[in-house]
Amino acid sequence: MKIAVAGGTGLLGRRVVEEARRRDHEVLVLSRSEGFDLTVGGAATRALEGTDVVVDVLSVVTLKAATSIAFFEQTTRILLAVERDAGVPHHLALSIVGIDKAPFDYYAGKLAQERLVEASTNGWTILRATQFHEFAAQMYERARFGPLHLAPRMRTQPVAAAEVATRLVDLCERTPQGRVRDLAGPREESLVDMIRDYAEASGAHGWIPAVSLPGDLGRAQRGGLLLPDADADLGRTTFAEWLTER
Ligand SMILES: NC(=O)c1ccc[n+]([C@@H]2O[C@H](COP(=O)([O-])OP(=O)(O)OC[C@H]3O[C@@H](n4cnc5c(N)ncnc54)[C@H](OP(=O)(O)O)[C@@H]3O)[C@@H](O)[C@H]2O)c1
Repeated sequence: MKIAVAGGTGLLGRRVVEEARRRDHEVLVLSRSEGFDLTVGGAATRALEGTDVVVDVLSVVTLKAATSIAFFEQTTRILLAVERDAGVPHHLALSIVGIDKAPFDYYAGKLAQERLVEASTNGWTILRATQFHEFAAQMYERARFGPLHLAPRMRTQPVAAAEVATRLVDLCERTPQGRVRDLAGPREESLVDMIRDYAEASGAHGWIPAVSLPGDLGRAQRGGLLLPDADADLGRTTFAEWLTER
């Protein structure tokens, strides 16, 4: 089948592309570096002809709700419209566990994305996953304050991005399913420990202070609102295994 991966050059998208090619699917990568800016309408219509499914793993780096909402609404509207024009029967979006419970500005955009997909007339599937193991590395790089790397206190049940990619390609091979069972990792971890273990395994030195984010978001992170429900599917690779094998 022909699978288009919107965001196919990103952390997760690269793994989706790899897994789809491993299964001998034809893959089209949609990202700015491949010549497709999905905030601009129509850019991908011709390329999408003959496509069976579009997987949306786009992202934007922002701490502002308005930016996140604008990005996810714009790219989702554009993708859904070009899929209709090109006759693509299936839109598969990746979302995040707990976005309706934790008041994180980035999540406002993910919620807006989910609502647009659910309201569309396109055939659709939405998978929610927990934080990736790779989130420890993203936080280590992004949560910097001068020479310090801050480690927010947060309960999480992270999953390997490779396992999320496998699940997404499994879903590509099925008909549109609506909202499917969430995917989480095999066990709960502390984000502070994950960031410190990642830094140590990467040979980094220095103080990585644990911080409690203020307000409702900090309370949600520490209170476990981003943990999966009991009926979530669980991946197999633990954070410690991922750290050793990566
Ligand atoms: N990180 C986590 O722990 C986690 C957990 C659960 C779910 N998720 C979800 O997983 C998805 C992927 O996250 P990620 O961390 O893999 O993202 P990422 O590494 O930041 O990758 C983002 C992708 O989007 C593309 N992109 C950005 N702006 C674009 C535009 N205007 N037009 C076309 N392409 C654009 C980027 O390519 P170019 O720069 O080349 O355009 C890149 O391929 C997101 O939806 C995120 O919410 C993440």
